[in-house]
Amino acid sequence: MNNQTNANIFEINHLTKSFKSGQGYLEVLKGIDLQVKKGEILAILGPSGAGKSTLIHIMGLLDRPTTGTVLFQNQDLALLSATAQARMRNTTFGFVFQFYHLIPELSALDNVLLPYMITYSLTAWWDRKSELMTRARDLMTQLGLNERIDHKPTKLSGGEKQRVAIARALIHDPEVVFCDEPTGNLDKASGQEIQKLILKLNKERGKTFIIVTHDENIAQKAHRVIRLSDGKIVT
Ligand SMILES: Nc1ncnc2c1ncn2[C@@H]1O[C@H](COP(=O)(O)OP(=O)(O)O)[C@@H](O)[C@H]1O
Ligand SMILES: [Mg+2]
Repeated sequence: MNNQTNANIFEINHLTKSFKSGQGYLEVLKGIDLQVKKGEILAILGPSGAGKSTLIHIMGLLDRPTTGTVLFQNQDLALLSATAQARMRNTTFGFVFQFYHLIPELSALDNVLLPYMITYSLTAWWDRKSELMTRARDLMTQLGLNERIDHKPTKLSGGEKQRVAIARALIHDPEVVFCDEPTGNLDKASGQEIQKLILKLNKERGKTFIIVTHDENIAQKAHRVIRLSDGKIVT
């Protein structure tokens, strides 16, 4: 039925996160314990300000915890070197955001290629450029973007922009794709397309998806739903 395995890909223990606020600290995550299975689609629901984005940023190495541990494939992320963390952030994890975060001056193809340009040295990039461009074009074609490859983001619909962002997130063939309200800015039909795409990528490629969402359709299709409220998991 699905690609979930019994292996935990993430194991989070007693995670807290505080931000400095004026003279004091604002405690945004107040002791999160969470396991995620490899191949799982986990939906994270909860009111605005609950700490959902903060949680997935820490899991994806975009931010660091105040206390507690995040194990990814049994490795404590905090114990990795900065270089190993950067490699993991750029290649093992992929990110999709509500507002796409595409670079307006670049074509859809170049936006998808951007993670390669960041990861490879200039010489390695030039050596492999045609192979990498072929991979990016193939991926975009699979995501239904074959007619949009050379378009700038301003010429794309919301759903197309989000598919470009998904292609960019997938270009390194990540293990985990973090999505932060991926359909939050889309009309219903485009949102459903993105939802179908997520289900397909999970089923066919076994990707683990961790999705912050207010979208009931996505939550219904997820393998598991957790709710965050005021920095704690409430279900
Ligand atoms: N970098 C930051 N510095 C200070 N406060 C932050 C920072 N990031 C988030 N917060 C605060 O943490 C709380 C939770 O934010 P967030 O994780 O974005 O919630 P959610 O995604 O559930 O809406 C909010 O009160 C927000 O203002
Ligand atoms: Mg958020």
